[in-house]
Parts: sequence; C-alpha cells; structure tokens
Amino acid sequence: MTRNILVTSALPYANGPIHIGHLVEYIQTDIWVRFQKLRGNRCIYICADDTHGTAIMIRARKEGRSEEALIEAMNEAHQRDFAGFDIQFDHYGSTNSEANRSLCAEFWQALRDDDLITERSIEQLFDPEAETFLADRFVRGTCPKCGSPDQAGDNCTCGHTYNPTDLIDPKSTLSGATPVLRESTHLFVQLEKLHAFLNDWIDTSGALQTEVANYLKGHFLADELRDWDISRPAPYFGFEIPDSPGNYWYVWFDAPIGYIASTQEWCESNGEQLANWWRNTDCEIHHFIGKDITYFHTLFWPGMLKSAQYNMPTKVHIHGFLNVDGKKMSKRDGTLVAAETYLKHAGPSYLRYFYATKLTSRVEDLDLGIDEFTEKVNSDLVGKVVNLASRVGKFAHATGLSDSYPDDGGLFAAAAAAGDDIAEAYELGEYSKAMRRIMELADTANPFVEHAKPWEMKKDESRVDELRDTCTVALNLFRQLAVYLSPVLPELATKCGELLGEEITSWDQSKKPLVGIPVSKFKRMMDRVQPEDLKKMIEESKELAAADAAAADQPTFDDSDQPLKDEPLADEITIDEFAKVDLRVARVISAEHVPEANKLLKLTLSLGGEEHRQVFAGIKAAYEPEALVGRLVVMVANLKPRKMRFGLSEGMVTAAGPGGADVFILGVDDGALPGQRVH
Ligand code: MSP
Ligand code: ZN
Repeated sequence: MTRNILVTSALPYANGPIHIGHLVEYIQTDIWVRFQKLRGNRCIYICADDTHGTAIMIRARKEGRSEEALIEAMNEAHQRDFAGFDIQFDHYGSTNSEANRSLCAEFWQALRDDDLITERSIEQLFDPEAETFLADRFVRGTCPKCGSPDQAGDNCTCGHTYNPTDLIDPKSTLSGATPVLRESTHLFVQLEKLHAFLNDWIDTSGALQTEVANYLKGHFLADELRDWDISRPAPYFGFEIPDSPGNYWYVWFDAPIGYIASTQEWCESNGEQLANWWRNTDCEIHHFIGKDITYFHTLFWPGMLKSAQYNMPTKVHIHGFLNVDGKKMSKRDGTLVAAETYLKHAGPSYLRYFYATKLTSRVEDLDLGIDEFTEKVNSDLVGKVVNLASRVGKFAHATGLSDSYPDDGGLFAAAAAAGDDIAEAYELGEYSKAMRRIMELADTANPFVEHAKPWEMKKDESRVDELRDTCTVALNLFRQLAVYLSPVLPELATKCGELLGEEITSWDQSKKPLVGIPVSKFKRMMDRVQPEDLKKMIEESKELAAADAAAADQPTFDDSDQPLKDEPLADEITIDEFAKVDLRVARVISAEHVPEANKLLKLTLSLGGEEHRQVFAGIKAAYEPEALVGRLVVMVANLKPRKMRFGLSEGMVTAAGPGGADVFILGVDDGALPGQRVH
C-alpha cells in the first residue's frame, strides 16, 4: 500500500549559516525521504527558514539593514548550502509569510476558544538605549556570589545561577546601557489544561522514542505543567497578535506553524489540498529534530495541534548532537565548519555517507573523527563500492552485458534477499545498521572479481565471453549496492544509471539483474578523500572565525538617513567652482554677545599675524562665547563683506546642523595653523 508521508526537518534560524552540525539533521531527513520515494511512497519534504525573534532583529540593526533584507539573503544562502549537499526539499519557505501569519491567527483563535490563554504582567529588564526588552543572554554584570565581573545574565563561571536582576552593575550587551526593570503584559498558554491529553498521547501514540517518552514523563509530566509565555512586547520582529496590539507572538509559537504554512505553499503550487496532508489521518507526519528542541515538539506543538484540530505527529525522530574529534564543535578549533566551507574542500557524498554510518534510532550524540572519516570513506566507498565498478568498467564498454545473467554462486540472489532487512533499517532510522549490511554485501562481491581476474581475460581474445560474464556479474552487484545506497548517495546512483542506461528510481531495481544491454564509457565515480583537504578545511574555518571575531569588535554605526532626507544633496559642481570658495583655518580670538541680536555672537577671527576678521555667527543658542575663545574654526574667508545692523561681517564660520541649539562648528585637527587653506 502506498503511504502518504509528510516529512519535516526543524526550520533553521535565519540568523546564521548552515554548519556541519545542522547537516546531521538535514542529511538524515533527506536520506529518509529519498528512501520513502524509492520505495514508491508518496512523500513530501517540507522545510523553511525560521525568521523571527530578537536575535534577527538585533543582527539586522547591527548590519544596518532591514530584517526582511537579512532573512531574504539568509534564505538564499541556506537553500544554496542545502542544494550543495544534495538535500532536496519539495518546498522551502519562510516563517515570515502571509500563509504563516493567517495560520497563526487560526491557531490563536483555537487556543482562545479552548480557554487556554491567560494574561499577566511580568517584570523584565529593559534596555533604555536600544529600547528593547532583554533576554537573559543580552545582560552581563558582576556575579552577586563571587564578585567576578562580566558574567552572563543567568550564571557565573563560579557555578552560581541567578536572575539577571540579581547581577551587580548589570549592563546590556546591546548598548552598554544599564538596564531598568519594566513591567509588561504577557500572554500565556495554560499547558496544564492539556496535561492529561499529553500524557495519554505520549503513552499511546508510539510517536516518541522510548527514552524520550520516559524523559518527558519523569521530568515534566510528573509535575504540574508551567504556563508557556507566548508573547513578547514591541519592539519585536514577528507577527503582531491581532487581539493584543503591541504584543507579538514569541518566535516559538509561529515557527512550528511554519511547517503547515510551508506545506500550504507547496499545495498551492501543486494543486493539492492542505487538509489532505494535515487533517487526514491517512497521512503520516514525521518531524526530524535535534534533542535541544524536544520540549517544543513533544509538549507545546502537540498541544497546539490538538487545539487547532490538526493531525498529531506520527513520529518525532529525535537525534543527538555532533561532536568533532570527541569535542563540542568550536569556532576556535575550526571544527564548527560552515556548509559552504566544507564544500570547498570535500564532496557532499562523503559527509552523507559518514553520517549514515553513525546514525541510529536513538538520541545519541555522534562523533565526526577526522581520521575515521577519511578511513571510512576511502575504504568503504572508494575501496569497496566504487572499486567493484571500476575494476570491470573499463572493459564493459566493449563487451556490453551478457544476454542472460551468468552463474555468480548465488551472490545476486543473496544480496536481493538482504533488501528487506536493509529497508527495515532505513525505515527505523537505523542507518548505521543499513550501511553495515550494505558493506557486508560489498565484501562478498569484491572477491568474485578478484578471483575472476578480468584484466587477464582481457589479454586473451578467446575469453571475451567470460569477460562479458564477469562484467555482467560485477556491474549488477555494483548496481544493487548503488540502489541500496541511493538514499545516501544520490550522485553515485545517477552515475550508475548513466553507466548502465537506466536511471535508478525504485528499490525493486535491486531485485532483477540487467542483461543484454550496452554499457557506457566508464567515468570516474568517486575520488579518495585527501587528509590534507580536511586540514585545509579546518584551517579555513579557524581563519573565518577569527575574522568574524575581529569584525564583531569593530564598532557598528547605524546613522539615521534623516539629515539627507531633510536636505538632499546639491547639484554637481566642478573642482574649479569649489576652488572659488576660499576656506581658511582661523582662530577665535574674541567672542561676545550682541545685545540687540537674539541669535548672533560677534566673533573676531585671526588668520595669523595681524589679519583679523569680524564675523557675526548665528550660534548664540548653541555656544557660550567664553567656550569659543582660542578654538580653531573653518571660515569662508573670501565672502563679500556684508553690512549688518551691528557692524560689518567679513566672512562666515562653517557649521553643521539644522540651527537653533543644534549647530555644530567645524573644528580642525591639532597641528593646523590659522591662515592655512582648506582644500
Ligand atoms: N529554529 C529552531 C527550530 C524551529 S522548528 C519549528 C532551531 N533552529 S537551529 O538552526 O538552531 O537548529 C536547526 C536544527 O539543527 C535543530 O533541530 C537542531 O537540533 C539541529 N542542530 C543544530 N546544531 C546541531 C549540532 N551541532 N548537531 C546536531 N544537530 C544540530 O532550533
Ligand atoms: Zn560567581
């Protein structure tokens, strides 16, 4: 029976690039989806960028661009990276879409109707300069316990944990300002009202790995479920709550709804009905996520789905975290490798295969050992799988395949019989087991070629039929492996299809050998991994991290565009026209009020020696006369003198600003001398 299967990976945050840690998930999901499609199931793979929240808002501000511009660029980069790893979505959307906004409103109404929403006021630190509420991670200060300076908002390196409000001398990391406590209204989902439902779902649905179900029951469901704070006050980049103006849905409310919104966009461009996928129990829904976001997907999300009457997930596949060489990935060690950096130095198939050899159905962390990676790829893929084809490939173009499948001692039949086991391992997410089984088949296939020695047959024309038979067996055994591996190694499957003139599209192609067909010219299928390339990859990641850190230390500027809007740039002039204005450095040698004028100060400027000029300047509201005496200014020295009521004005002092108290005299750097021309 054909299954209808909707598959998602977690929606990656739009505030950073995809790295090899993320890829554990997207590669794992892509393998599962490709496997389902290969088995003839109807399967769609839906994802999107997770675009909302404070982090995106802050980053956009820092970079001096709009949030929309930032998330658009990031969406492009993410899609490019995923494509580079042969990760094939049926649709890749964005949570900042109209489809998502209206679905959020629908979910919200359902929660209201079920009387699950409550409102209360909470106190939070607020940055008066950046004008935003501060999550704990944006506050630093002195530890109240041990007195160490510059500690995080919720815990100190001494091990003490506290509230950011307990910090001595707290500072906002956004602006350096001292945060103040401010009250605001937040909206909450009363999860406790769903306690019994969630308990039952976890017990009876089979949607969760046993260890996850036990963990939830032991840690959360044993006690009363706390209300979930679902709103954030402005300013916030997200969707404003329709019936609570000035408040926004917290990013974790709209993000999972993005799964449905992205499906809806796919439906619209494929003539499908959303309800067929999300409100039809004939359709399976599979979420792939990392262990860090378990809580959101196993308590909040099922609660929301229940209230809005969408399907519950059939299965939430939760995986562990990636370590590199036994340690947490780190920028400093160069092990937090960006997808883009990886692809400059190594092929996507290597990583896909390596992860497949590591993944099980349990929530375990996995380790990418650099040496192990090289060894596995080179010995398994190049040494066993591709080798099988390359040892006969160069002869097979001349011979083609035999008209009937020769006696191979039962190898093909045995490998075909292993198909069910391998398929079951894929289905259960036991990829490491599937890879082991496939490599065992490769181990039994290779000796066949070694014993037959086709390179010797090649030298003796009378043995051409034997050679053809050997090619037929070896290439069919190779093709079986390519079919089994095709969810993991789509590129290899394509090359195998090209070699034998039949694209690999179905698992059942592993059951029947190909005979009596021509064979294309053999092309190289895969190169060995070079350890030096991986070293370079790590080095480059280190350099990129160092450059990033240096850039983060640079001050950022977010100057307003208002002054230019108020006074647009003037028409172009030539340098000669500019040269007509004789600007000179001058020293203010006296400054006094003009009793009859309420805006003017009378200045005496020295151009050096005995050259003095009297100038009336409209700066009275901005400067005290005493503060000006002795200063160097820039004057227009060849301005035609103008007779004023109070005397002759023999030039002009240059200044910026709109006027009144907002006038700023141009100064010159130390060392300039009165009388020098300004060019
Ligand atoms: N935006 C949220 C998910 C919202 S889903 C409605 C998020 N994004 S993320 O970019 O931080 O992570 C995306 C996925 O990658 C998560 O499932 C996360 O667990 C996974 N991984 C991120 N780093 C990882 C490792 N180092 N190792 C394995 N998986 C990792 O969470
Ligand atoms: Zn401390």
